[in-house]
Amino acid sequence: MPSMPARPLNPYDPPPPAPQERSAVLCGLAGWVPPHVVTNEELSRRLDTSDDWIRTRTGISRRHFAEPGQATSDLAVEAGRRALLSAGTEAADAVIVATTTPDRSCPATAPLVATRLGLTEAAAFDISAVCTGFVYGLASAAGLIAAGVAERVLLIGADTYSTIVDPQDRANAIIFGDGAGAVVLRAGRPDEPGAVGHFDLGSDGTGEELIMVAAGGSRQRSTPGDVGPQDHHFSMQGKEVYRHAVTRMAASARTALALADYKADDIDHFVPHQANLRILRSVAEDLGLPPERCVSNVESVGNTGAASIPLALADAASHQTIQQGERVLLTAFGGGLTWGSCLLSWPALSQISRPYDRGGVPAS
Ligand code: UT7
Repeated sequence: MPSMPARPLNPYDPPPPAPQERSAVLCGLAGWVPPHVVTNEELSRRLDTSDDWIRTRTGISRRHFAEPGQATSDLAVEAGRRALLSAGTEAADAVIVATTTPDRSCPATAPLVATRLGLTEAAAFDISAVCTGFVYGLASAAGLIAAGVAERVLLIGADTYSTIVDPQDRANAIIFGDGAGAVVLRAGRPDEPGAVGHFDLGSDGTGEELIMVAAGGSRQRSTPGDVGPQDHHFSMQGKEVYRHAVTRMAASARTALALADYKADDIDHFVPHQANLRILRSVAEDLGLPPERCVSNVESVGNTGAASIPLALADAASHQTIQQGERVLLTAFGGGLTWGSCLLSWPALSQISRPYDRGGVPAS
């Protein structure tokens, strides 16, 4: 599949050359969540909420939290190692980590992850596009491969929202979980199964304040005034974000479908960012897709940020829900605001290990 189409952004530019014959092809996949399971009942014991409210409003039953001392890179390494194993390789010449919860604000998390995976001297950098980070990461990996800068890229979406969400904030503490998902992409042809392409990416910075961590960046550090502990916590204007998520994900998915010259009915599996089951169902309905084509694991892991799409893919692939040759549409939405979509046809992958037990028993 060709990647980004040429868009006439500047009419005075010379006509762009045709897309190259190199594409990023999916060849490895894995997910990993920390063993500590936090159920709705457990949250209901310390917050003014209930299992019934959480299930009805979000579709979430449980999520996994990192242990004290466990950081995003620890989850990323687990998922990355398993993805390399699934690809049957120990090598990658670039490592990308999409995350909102890097180990530190400087340096990036990816170089440490690369080193811990034995990928010494690989190019390594983070992507910061909140819950759209994995799709932005796919586009970046596809670009590196298409340009001949890299032959094999390890892309990891990893987040530990439990480290930034206020545990007393009932609106957010019930939604987010920790996890990591990873894919390996190799250089291949645009027409082979697993080739990723037809990207739609976008942003709208007027929505900056809808999802944010107010403190910790240059804006706060360069601005005189008190910083309260709350400013270091994640905040989200849920209702507004909900509205934008449904509209933007549906529009972005439609754009990617149009670029590929597909109708919604040509899609076998729709894998949206796992924000909230009601959001996923609304987007699928808007696209005219029956609910059974919408892949969701939000019940078992909650919203895991940049990890959510690869974790949902790993879960579905490990249960053979997605079969070789089927067409898959990925769509994400997140803080920024940011959104993005892309398409791929499912490749032959070796058996993917289950990232967690769907019944809530910690995976070994
Ligand atoms: O990953 C990035 C993208 N993120 C998303 O897309 C998330 C988008 N937003 C959402 O998923 C939903 O807006 C939430 C799950 C956050 C909230 O669901 P909602 O149906 O939009 O509820 P609401 O915010 O309208 O709140 C309804 C009521 C309020 O009470 P009043 O004002 O009606 O008295 C809230 O205070 O529910 C209350 N409430 C809760 N009640 C019990 C809010 N959180 C809770 C809670 N338990 N945990």
